[in-house]
Amino acid sequence: MTVVASVFPVLMGRQLTLTASGLPSGLRLSVRGLKGHSVRSGLHSPGKSCPPLGAKTARMVTNREQVSTSVRKFVCSPTLAGNVASLLTSGRNFEESRTFLLEFEAGPGILTRKLLNAGAHVIALESNKSFLPNLESLKKEFESQLEVVHCNFIKLDANPYGLLKESELCSETLFKNLGIFEVPWTADIPLKVVGIVPRKQERLYLWRLTYFLYECSSIYNYGRIELNLFVSERMYKVFVAKPPDKRTYQSLSVLWQTACDIHLLHKEPCSSFLTNSKNSCSIPNSENEHLYLVRLTPRKDLFTDFLTTTNSRVFVMMVKQCFAKSTSKLLNKLNLWTFENAKNLLRELEIPENATAGGLYPEAYKSLFELMEQSNRIDQSLFYDVDLLADDSLIF
Ligand SMILES: *[C@@H]1O[C@H](CO)[C@@H](O)[C@H](O)[C@H]1NC(C)=O
Repeated sequence: MTVVASVFPVLMGRQLTLTASGLPSGLRLSVRGLKGHSVRSGLHSPGKSCPPLGAKTARMVTNREQVSTSVRKFVCSPTLAGNVASLLTSGRNFEESRTFLLEFEAGPGILTRKLLNAGAHVIALESNKSFLPNLESLKKEFESQLEVVHCNFIKLDANPYGLLKESELCSETLFKNLGIFEVPWTADIPLKVVGIVPRKQERLYLWRLTYFLYECSSIYNYGRIELNLFVSERMYKVFVAKPPDKRTYQSLSVLWQTACDIHLLHKEPCSSFLTNSKNSCSIPNSENEHLYLVRLTPRKDLFTDFLTTTNSRVFVMMVKQCFAKSTSKLLNKLNLWTFENAKNLLRELEIPENATAGGLYPEAYKSLFELMEQSNRIDQSLFYDVDLLADDSLIF
């Protein structure tokens, strides 16, 4: 197996099908040592992917049968695929910038073909082996434009203990083999991602991404990766909710609006998608339901002198805890966390004293955190304790 021994220039017409199960267990270890140092000065990347594991354990785990119970949806209408392809490939300098498009759970490859027809350089990821031959056959037509990888993107870096099951890879292995390297946070978007997020894993997946984004780890270690995700209506509404929308505005709203520009690209009835389960239409009103294609572009100015990849976890925890009870007064929460009178903090930012957690805009959360950091006014030990006890959102 030579996949890792040489660095592959991406999309040079070489045959590359990375299969997680086919990787010798020593591979992950050797790749780990090759990682280049971060080019982002001042940004800290915790490098928590792929901890070393015993060869025996690795073999045991990779040989285990993959059990997948999640319902998947597929883009099967050529009209929808064409629309999505033009949404993703239109715009300034798409051709020249040679931005790669990573399509996850590419399935039957209907969208893949449209993306290729539009001139895009596509990396098609698929976790189900039965779709691979079909995707591979697209390579006959679009040899220099397409790479096919057996990999479950949703589970990328999901396993904190590095026990990778079949079709699970870590981002380090995947990106290295595709020849995608880290760029500074403020550089142009290095990679666009498109795919349908499985409904059942949606919330957990977005929480996991939230941590990756704020820490610049996993995919965000490589720069400002642009996600184009089909999500449920509920999740879209969470992304864009503002106060005083008590029902929808929540910590995910604050964290994603702070971190990303969010655009709705397209809205498509669920009935246009093909699904691999007969039961998925038993949800009431499902014929009226839509999937929302939403573009999440990380902001260049997300990180500042006082919100960094090192302290951002405290910011995430602070927002989470504020929304544990969104109707409670912000002042009371702040008094628990700061060493000084929280009234002064609020006054400095011209936030009313009686403001509630659910009444504060995302920008205000960021300003508040930065002000607290700036003057060392956060008792961080409180957050770390709670983090250990209550933060289960990373675990599947
Ligand atoms: C893979 O896809 C095939 C064809 O759609 C399906 O029959 C099979 O159950 C899928 N396997 C898994 C593990 O999801």
